[in-house]
Amino acid sequence: MSAYTRIASLKTPGAFRAHTASLGLTLECEEHIETAPSSPLAAPLDADGFRLGNRFVIHPMEGWDGEPDGRPSELTRRRWRNFGVSGAKWIWGGEAMAVVHDGRANPNQVRIDASTRDSLAVMLDELLEAHRAAVGSTNDLLVGFQLTHSGRFCKPNRTDRLEPKIAYHHPLLDRKFGIAPDDPVMSDDELRLLIERFVEAARIAESCGAQFVDVKHCHGYLGHELLSAHTRRGPFGGPLENRMRFLREIVSGVRAATHLKIGVRLSAFDVVPYKPDPSKSVGTKLGPGVPEDYSGCLPYQYGFGVDRERPEAYDLSETVKLLEAMEAMEIRLINISAGSPYYNPHIQRPALFPPSDGYQPPEDPLIGCARQIEATAELKRRFPGLVIVGTAYSYLQEYLPHVAQWVVRSGRADAVGLGRIVLSYPELPADVLGAGKLTTNKLCRTFSDCTTAPRNGLVSGCFPLDPFYKALPAAVDLKRAKAAMR
Ligand SMILES: Cc1cc2nc3c(=O)[nH]c(=O)nc-3n(C[C@H](O)[C@H](O)[C@H](O)COP(=O)(O)O)c2cc1C
Ligand code: SF4
Repeated sequence: MSAYTRIASLKTPGAFRAHTASLGLTLECEEHIETAPSSPLAAPLDADGFRLGNRFVIHPMEGWDGEPDGRPSELTRRRWRNFGVSGAKWIWGGEAMAVVHDGRANPNQVRIDASTRDSLAVMLDELLEAHRAAVGSTNDLLVGFQLTHSGRFCKPNRTDRLEPKIAYHHPLLDRKFGIAPDDPVMSDDELRLLIERFVEAARIAESCGAQFVDVKHCHGYLGHELLSAHTRRGPFGGPLENRMRFLREIVSGVRAATHLKIGVRLSAFDVVPYKPDPSKSVGTKLGPGVPEDYSGCLPYQYGFGVDRERPEAYDLSETVKLLEAMEAMEIRLINISAGSPYYNPHIQRPALFPPSDGYQPPEDPLIGCARQIEATAELKRRFPGLVIVGTAYSYLQEYLPHVAQWVVRSGRADAVGLGRIVLSYPELPADVLGAGKLTTNKLCRTFSDCTTAPRNGLVSGCFPLDPFYKALPAAVDLKRAKAAMR
């Protein structure tokens, strides 16, 4: 039984407010859900010259369910159709698409290249068609593709074999993921070739009808890792100017080759990697998260947006410099995320129940939501000219619309991104804006099966709540995998 109060047990906005106050959080919760057109979530938004129809964004979410040759499968397409049905007017990336085979996070990650182009175009068309059928016009719908290379977390060929491409040796992550001190670091030439592949992928995205590309810089993958490559020598390491060279060169290449808008999904802050407390882990039962021992690594120079002296805390000073540089590059679309699902999931996707490779939450997951909302608000305050999307709202459950209204009304973010909750409840934005109420039995309760399944080589989806996934043979395999862990 979890030590933390369940959101479902908080029966009124007042009870939710009292609970957040008891945790010392500055998280407001409005009394009522407002509908369109008066809701702040229904207000149009100018996103780099494009007028969006509302303030809901669907975050990229992959499903470990592409075909081995990199094309989307029927499961992938179903998820994209659901994104279209949601009523959200900004589809941020759809899902991470690998720009090269070796950069895939798993053997079923969708790849973007000439061989997959036509099927990606079909998938995008299906999303648009689903949106039209469910909510009407697509004139105010902005859809982009998320471009990625998974760097340290590549598993292109087997679900159980990391084939990491690292930007530098990270003492804690190397140890955690079995990377030897003499394992190779990606060369500058490899990075230069990869920049060309990102540019080519953007060309393909444009030909499919995507309106922007997200040059992914979050969650521990390659772009994000390069931002913390303090110890790397040469043009891609050392001073921030060098650590952002990968981004800068991709952006100038994409600008020269396409007319696309450019967005960046950024882990704006981070903390040290965590692990289950060994003294409280019994058998396969995970203990609460504790930081990996970083005592030999101070001052800490192995993260981006991490406090160098106290790396359990975050520090936005370099993030501010990076956003200044992005603003100067005329990048306007920013999606703020944090941390990584591989080494500190409580920072990245607050949950009551841990995924199989995680740990019990070391804090009330609401603290994780508030941390991302506060950091995002601080960045929005400093960069009023950027269009900023916030993350980590799913755990708010019943009170997601109430908090989201407050965030947007008070200018703490321009738009509210939805992750897991859209897997369990795709129509949430339409229900909020249309009816002003939620179907509570569809709310994501952060069971983490959508992360545990792929960690066990299975497709991702909402197995507990989506009847479609409940009925898949993979649901039986997942049950077995979870039973083996007990
Ligand atoms: C199954 C799953 C797949 C995800 N895939 C991606 C992805 O492809 N790209 C990405 O940037 N984030 C990905 N994320 C992270 C989400 O976009 C989001 O940041 C995270 O779930 C926190 O938001 P939430 O609290 O609304 O779920 C994924 C998350 C989940 C649960
Ligand atoms: S499996 Fe479903 S309920 Fe569990 S975290 Fe994922 S979306 Fe939420």
